[in-house]
Amino acid sequence: MKINNLPYRSLWVTADNLAVEIIDQTQLPHFFTTVKLHSMRDAERAIRDMQVRGAPLIGVTAAYGVALSMRHHASDAALTATCDMLLKARPTAVNLRWAVERMRAILSPLAAEQRAEAAWLEAGQMADEDVAVNAAIGQHGLPLIQAAYQRTGKPVNILTHCNAGWLATVDWGTALAPIYAAYDAGIPLHVWVDETRPRNQGASLTAWELAQHGIPHTLIVDNTGGHLMQHGWVDLAIVGCDRATARGDVCNKIGTYLKALAAFDNHVPFYVALPTSTIDWTLQDGVAEIPIEQRAENEVTHITGQTDEGEICTVRITPAGCRAANYSFDVTPARLVTGLITEKGMVAANEVGMAKLLT
Ligand code: MRU
Repeated sequence: MKINNLPYRSLWVTADNLAVEIIDQTQLPHFFTTVKLHSMRDAERAIRDMQVRGAPLIGVTAAYGVALSMRHHASDAALTATCDMLLKARPTAVNLRWAVERMRAILSPLAAEQRAEAAWLEAGQMADEDVAVNAAIGQHGLPLIQAAYQRTGKPVNILTHCNAGWLATVDWGTALAPIYAAYDAGIPLHVWVDETRPRNQGASLTAWELAQHGIPHTLIVDNTGGHLMQHGWVDLAIVGCDRATARGDVCNKIGTYLKALAAFDNHVPFYVALPTSTIDWTLQDGVAEIPIEQRAENEVTHITGQTDEGEICTVRITPAGCRAANYSFDVTPARLVTGLITEKGMVAANEVGMAKLLT
């Protein structure tokens, strides 16, 4: 995708081939800065501190973390320690485990001296695959937006939650990929962007990347979606996913479930876009089984923004000493999901639909 009309991915290998460069997403939308990752610890820290975030991008960054590590220490013990450390960086997005285990499976049978090169190639392959997979999700989701436009003849209003755009992947995004595809195909559309408290990835990241692409959008506070749906101002909702189960339950950023309930009550189609690497085939019941990340209280009690003078400032919005709970994700049961948009096509969110993705 483009930033100020220059093509970018959300991560890339530096020209000297010694490091991986990322966009520091904690600085957006106020500052565009990049950071070089030279070691596995750099990659682990970037994931944990959310300089990179979004399920697919976490996975690819972890793969490069393994590759960077193998350049320094490539013994069996080092491989195990590297994988164990990266796996702990964040708990919910299963793409992290998927990527680390894929690296482990490729590298384990090799001799230590072969691992560095093989790991670098595999991580690069995963980055390229991610771009292709998300482009395919875009093409599979495009007909939904086309159909909505043909039905009404008016700009299509799409609601999304959090950031499941190109910043959350290597390129294109998941939930935003069909939106980019539809916009580029000339379909008039408008996106309702949930701000996504407490870290505000909708306000800071989705609004930023949609603006870079020229896509009309309006920021709303998280509680607005139901009201918009009651009035017929949402044609469809498309969200991303951090972990889906074998029966089609989907875990995504906190608040997604409430949007799905409102959509169900108002007969608004609710789609979830995800690569198949986001499916955890070992789980069935998402509510009972998916680990939900809990983050620091101060993400809820405080808020950070830019003053009109350009200064970045953090302020407390609660009484001093107020306790806060910060659950970062929730689970939407399959019965509330109209369809899953994957790189293999659209499937129903149930065991039969999911089984089609195994072939
Ligand atoms: O906590 P984050 O910013 O990593 O959460 C991201 C999301 O919840 C996204 O919706 C999800 O990862 C889908 S990414 C294409």
